[in-house]
Amino acid sequence: MIDIKGKAAILTGAAEGWGYQIAKALVGAGMKLALMDVQAEKLRRAAEEFKAMGGECLPIVVDLASAEATQAAAEEALAYYGTPRVLIHNAAVLKEVSMLDVTFDNWRREMNIIIQAAFILSKAVWPGMVGAKSGSIVFISSGSGIKGFVKETAYTPAKHAQEGLMKVLAMEGEPFNIAVNTITPGIAINTPMSASHYTPEQQARWVDPAMIAPAFVYLAGLDAKTTTGHRLDAWQLSEAVRVGQKT
Ligand SMILES: NC(=O)c1ccc[n+]([C@@H]2O[C@H](COP(=O)([O-])OP(=O)(O)OC[C@H]3O[C@@H](n4cnc5c(N)ncnc54)[C@H](O)[C@@H]3O)[C@@H](O)[C@H]2O)c1
Repeated sequence: MIDIKGKAAILTGAAEGWGYQIAKALVGAGMKLALMDVQAEKLRRAAEEFKAMGGECLPIVVDLASAEATQAAAEEALAYYGTPRVLIHNAAVLKEVSMLDVTFDNWRREMNIIIQAAFILSKAVWPGMVGAKSGSIVFISSGSGIKGFVKETAYTPAKHAQEGLMKVLAMEGEPFNIAVNTITPGIAINTPMSASHYTPEQQARWVDPAMIAPAFVYLAGLDAKTTTGHRLDAWQLSEAVRVGQKT
């Protein structure tokens, strides 16, 4: 495991939800953050809060559905911090629309945010990580990366594609000690995405996503010698981190 204090992370979808809590955990662990999100005002407020905590961060407002904007955002982050220790692609949207009703433009937008951005951001950090023989890349997966759900015409295929990209990059990254993994929440979480999709039963047992953020402090310091090519469980991993911190 690598000491992550003072090292840089690129994190997408940091303005709210799980991504905001991941950012907070990484700031608490002493990392410098390049934070990307499409919600300018919420991202600005989050960045101010992290700076007030003593953190260093670069907020980048970007629509990750656009290939050009995503490439420019990656270049801005790399120019500011150099090659990051960890890339976490967390941003996603979930629109439940049946095959009869979905439009190509809506389908493509959701796919682009999830899988096109995963590719562009990974491609941007890859040469630096290869050169450093060190790095960790994490894509946020879902039950939808494992099985299908009705009306998830874009979300399910995009999350499956992230699993596939992870497997290829884990194999190509291993000789260069780059860890590439996906992670699922492992538990129902209270986020804006969940608020619009969970059933009342799920909402009755959801937890604050802060509970599953400690996993990323571990993942940020990961290398391929430790764990690569896996779909991890954030709830279990965060529990293990909490137990480790107590002992
Ligand atoms: N909420 C759940 O129950 C659940 C379950 C499984 C997996 N996940 C995954 O966890 C991750 C976080 O989910 P969440 O519940 O916090 O979602 P959320 O919708 O609450 O937050 C997503 C964040 O991504 C940002 N974002 C959305 N579109 C963007 C774009 N075009 N460009 C830049 N940023 C954009 C949003 O502004 C927001 O800050 C996602 O990858 C999601 O698929 C969530």
